[in-house]
Amino acid sequence: MIAWELAGAGVEQLRKVERGDPEPGPGQILVRVRAVSLNHRDLSLARRGVEEPIIPASDGAGEVLAIGPGVKAWRPGDRVVANFFQTWIGGAWHPRHAASALGGSVDGMLAELLVVEEGAVVAIPDGWSFEEAATLPCAGVTAWNALFGAVPLRPGELVVVQGTGGVSVFALQLAAAAGAEVAVTSSSDEKLAVVAGMGASVGVNYRTTPNWAAAIRSGAGRGADHVVEVTGQLDASLEVVASNGSIAVVGTTLGTEAPVVEIHPGVILQKGATIRGIYVGSTAMLADLIQAMVTSDIRPVIDRTFAFDETPQAYRAMMSAGHIGKIVIAA
Ligand SMILES: NC(=O)c1ccc[n+]([C@@H]2O[C@H](COP(=O)([O-])OP(=O)(O)OC[C@H]3O[C@@H](n4cnc5c(N)ncnc54)[C@H](OP(=O)(O)O)[C@@H]3O)[C@@H](O)[C@H]2O)c1
Repeated sequence: MIAWELAGAGVEQLRKVERGDPEPGPGQILVRVRAVSLNHRDLSLARRGVEEPIIPASDGAGEVLAIGPGVKAWRPGDRVVANFFQTWIGGAWHPRHAASALGGSVDGMLAELLVVEEGAVVAIPDGWSFEEAATLPCAGVTAWNALFGAVPLRPGELVVVQGTGGVSVFALQLAAAAGAEVAVTSSSDEKLAVVAGMGASVGVNYRTTPNWAAAIRSGAGRGADHVVEVTGQLDASLEVVASNGSIAVVGTTLGTEAPVVEIHPGVILQKGATIRGIYVGSTAMLADLIQAMVTSDIRPVIDRTFAFDETPQAYRAMMSAGHIGKIVIAA
């Protein structure tokens, strides 16, 4: 099979290689990958680099080519999307699942073929493209877990999402469909105009309004019941969150640029705030997300689709952060 390997640090270390075709063992299925989506994590891995070559990308969808011994749930020709963690099927998070993260701990989706666990894939809804399905496992499931996990969102609540990338646009769509009010921050007024059309009622440009937390409080007339914290600005998120509100700590997009802040425990205590770390989600969450999106008629927002041979260009497009929603590679 043909695959893209990351063999060092930097996008220039992505190279197209030939590898032997994998074969499904007991309880596994062989998938012909048809579409892949990129996530911020793929950029982080490329920047950080790897010691041993790895096939990157956690998110992909395709069709079942062959099944291993004992597989009952799937047949060749079925259209499936794989979960980010191959061993987290349901229930609570356990750190052991980290060893099964596609495109990080084990080979991922940027290949023609991939063997996955039969219990760690979900059927693609009728009428959905492989490209649409490929957007779901990391960004979609993370947004789902953040909003409907331990402290489920209720209609009428205020949700804050930061930026207009993959996780944030899924969170915006899911929150709006659930009857919540949504406030979005972005570096771009043009992007804020686009997400207003998706249901965001408050938009704040964090470049021109650095104190975006105060601006959201004044624009919405209240604090946030849920903050999907993807940037690493916990102090500002604690400012914007309402009493009894919840902050889902998802990421540190700002990376080393994120200011190190001291947070007095009294702030959390007096607000009665819940702060919860999110690490993508289980296959059960992926199935719940898909059901919710189908029922609510939500389709993933794909900014741009690249060809398989254009994989480095897709990475560079993601790095330039001009996108809204997801960047996809057709395989
Ligand atoms: N914990 C987990 O399981 C998990 C899962 C998925 C993602 N993540 C993390 O979540 C973050 C987002 O991932 P993604 O794949 O959605 O990334 P993405 O598609 O690359 O989106 C990143 C967006 O962040 C926004 N941004 C950058 N600086 C910002 C700032 N100072 N304030 C507000 N927004 C800012 C930008 O939006 P604008 O262009 O609109 O300014 C940018 O488009 C990353 O840190 C990623 O590592 C964690």
